[in-house]
Amino acid sequence: MLTPLVAGNWKMNTTLREGAGLVMSLRELIKGVDSVEILIAPPFTHLHHLSHLAADSPIKLAAQNVYWEKKGAFTGEISPEMLKDVGCRYVIIGHSERRQYFHETDETVNRKLLFSIKEGLKPIVCVGETLEEREAGKALTKVRSQLKKALSGIVVGTLKEVAVAYEPVWAIGTGRNASPEDAEEVHSAIKELLFDMFDTEFANSVRVIYGGSVKPDNMDALMAQPNIDGALVGGASLKAADFARIIKFQSQK
Ligand code: 13P
Repeated sequence: MLTPLVAGNWKMNTTLREGAGLVMSLRELIKGVDSVEILIAPPFTHLHHLSHLAADSPIKLAAQNVYWEKKGAFTGEISPEMLKDVGCRYVIIGHSERRQYFHETDETVNRKLLFSIKEGLKPIVCVGETLEEREAGKALTKVRSQLKKALSGIVVGTLKEVAVAYEPVWAIGTGRNASPEDAEEVHSAIKELLFDMFDTEFANSVRVIYGGSVKPDNMDALMAQPNIDGALVGGASLKAADFARIIKFQSQK
């Protein structure tokens, strides 16, 4: 059994003060939870301070983006080493908002992923189809193609830990989540692809988490699906009580 992974993607929200309040509330609310891996991905500017506030708690830090060079003249970018330096060990790569608004491509996602792995960050790679693609019956083809390109060139021995987030674009921030069955269909296709691409031991270690309007009232049903190993939560991760309830999901596989 894989340890479930629940990550809160704060996106471009919260001042430092608000973020600190969120971490302190969350710390209280999740006391005693030891069977779920918990991540928060605040804005870059908060990472250093929040990593201190989250010390000695189960809450770990993730970044929302990273660049693929060690250092140099890349104005506005942040390297893996800088993230590790402030206590951040995870990074979200290829979020659909980055693909849509900041022109990230399968190629840049792949570069970020390969470099993060090389530098010892644990990546969460995002994939997902648009509404148009789903309605045209192309959801699985799209997700397989994104994932194949994102993971190309990976040398298995170098890869310690990677997670995949399936986030259908039409379900993000819309209140319209994929049904547990629809999500499960894609998750199981993702796992099949991982078994095709990598050895069994590695493929078995990859957690495939769902994102897109995850809320306290739909988390249990999603987590009851055999191939849903956690959640990537946007809006609901900005409310400590909601995020805590999501972390404390109640379902049996
Ligand atoms: P929402 O939970 O707000 O739909 O956002 C999902 C998401 O994009 C997480 O990365």
